[in-house]
Amino acid sequence: MSMTLTEYLPKDLFAGKTVFVTGGGSGINLGVAKCFAAVGANVAICGRTVEKLENAARALEMLGAQTTHAVADVRDYEALERAFEKTKEELGPIHTLVCGAAGNFLSPAENLSANGFKSVVDIDLLGSFNASRAAFEHLEQTKGNIIFISAGQAFTPYFAQAHAGAAKAGVDNLMRNLALEWGRYGIRSNSIAPGPIEGTEGMRRLAPGNVGDRLKQAIPLGRFGTVEDVGQAAVFLASPLASFVTGTLLVVDGGQNLPGSGLYTRLIMAAMGGEG
Ligand code: COA
Repeated sequence: MSMTLTEYLPKDLFAGKTVFVTGGGSGINLGVAKCFAAVGANVAICGRTVEKLENAARALEMLGAQTTHAVADVRDYEALERAFEKTKEELGPIHTLVCGAAGNFLSPAENLSANGFKSVVDIDLLGSFNASRAAFEHLEQTKGNIIFISAGQAFTPYFAQAHAGAAKAGVDNLMRNLALEWGRYGIRSNSIAPGPIEGTEGMRRLAPGNVGDRLKQAIPLGRFGTVEDVGQAAVFLASPLASFVTGTLLVVDGGQNLPGSGLYTRLIMAAMGGEG
């Protein structure tokens, strides 16, 4: 990544601070973790696959970060508690929690099983609550903040995305509730809604075949986002630059979710062979 960030922000902006990223082993979440590493943070990550976590930790260390990682599924509250305790011992209490772990796939609602819907809600929404709740004592101590990785599906219905839309809308309302309730502890809570981010699992899953290329036509800024675009926004929200910002959703999508484009729906329907 190019790290435009460090051209504008000091490399020690987060020195001595610990950032924990759930799902930080790959994709947008790893990109966010790298941006925090570039501005001096200690970085902890969790996920389900140890190999991914080990590779990601090495990449973060190459950027100068002290790291730790733990295998933890965000659906498992005790596993998160253990991961946060390990982080505190090795890197200090968490200053910024990034709730990034997510699951998604395309499925028209009438084909989706109850367990499929539940799985996505469990990972995205319950997982975000689990992480926030388990990190509370850390965040209270550091007067820290939480960043939820949401999605346009939270506020715009997308074809074959009923499960993700319900889950992410829940995440954003949880974000606003925690901003309201935990402001008195000095804890801020905000969301980022990334648009299509190139090279990610989300793009492979949600824009199969040639959908991606054609989807670009529906992005006013005319390009896909990068993981660094999302990471820069996360660093801003977690930094003193945003010290009075809480309860907000920052859309980082090149304008893709502005109302008026039905292109995505038409493309997905075509890609799925007219199903639904
Ligand atoms: N279409 C429809 N249903 C699907 C599906 C798909 N592509 N993929 C999984 N499901 C359903 C399964 O059939 C199952 O329901 P069932 O028991 O009624 O058959 C349910 O979802 C759970 O699947 P399972 O594979 O057991 O869940 P998991 O907990 O191992 O995995 C997922 C969670 C399903 C979200 C999986 O896709 C995942 O691990 N994703 C992580 C990465 C990711 O999605 N990144 C993209 C972010 S945008």
